[in-house]
Amino acid sequence: MTSPEITEAMIFECFAAAQQNDDMDKTAASFVDVEEYENQIMYPEFARWAEQAGYPELASLFRKVAGEEKLHAVWLRELYQEMGQPPRGEDTQRAIDALETIRANCDALIKMNPEGVVEKALAVAISVEEREYRDIYPRFRDQAIAEQNTRAAEVYQRVVDSEREHANWFRKALEEFQANMATPVPA
Ligand SMILES: [Fe+2]
Ligand SMILES: [Fe+2]
Repeated sequence: MTSPEITEAMIFECFAAAQQNDDMDKTAASFVDVEEYENQIMYPEFARWAEQAGYPELASLFRKVAGEEKLHAVWLRELYQEMGQPPRGEDTQRAIDALETIRANCDALIKMNPEGVVEKALAVAISVEEREYRDIYPRFRDQAIAEQNTRAAEVYQRVVDSEREHANWFRKALEEFQANMATPVPA
C-alpha cells in the first residue's frame, strides 16, 4: 500500500490570493471573497486537522484567526454596503479544489503522522499571512491612497496590522510546537 503524501507545497495551494484590479470596487470584492474563504473554509479545515491530530489549542488558534478573517471582510463591507455576495474568484475556486484534493487523503495521513500535518499547516499559515501583510494588502492600501479613498486605505492598513499579528501568533505556535516535539517525553 502506498502511503498518502501531503507536502507543504500542496497545502500552500489552499491559499487564495486576492486580486488587485484597476477598478477599486473589484479589488474590494476580491478581498471580501478571499477573506470569507479563509473564514469559512481554509482555517476551519486547518482547525479540523489540528483537532484530529490531538492539538485542541492549535485548533482554537486556527478558529480564532478564522474569526478575525471574517472581521476583515465585515470592515470592508461596511464601506461597500451594496456589494452583496462577490463572485467566486478564479484563484479562490482553484484553492477550494486544492483543499478538496487534500481532504481526500488527509484523514489517513493525520492518523499516520499527526505532527507532520499540523507542523505543515502552521508553516503554510505563516506564509499565507506574510504574503498578505507584506505584499498584497499594502498594495490595496496604496491603491486606495492614490484614489484618495481615505476610509478604504484605513481599513486596508488595519488589515495589514492584523495579518502581521496573525503571522506572529503562528510563528510563536510553530516554535513552541517544534520545541515540544524536540523534548523527550518523561518516562
Ligand atoms: Fe484577513
Ligand atoms: Fe490573517
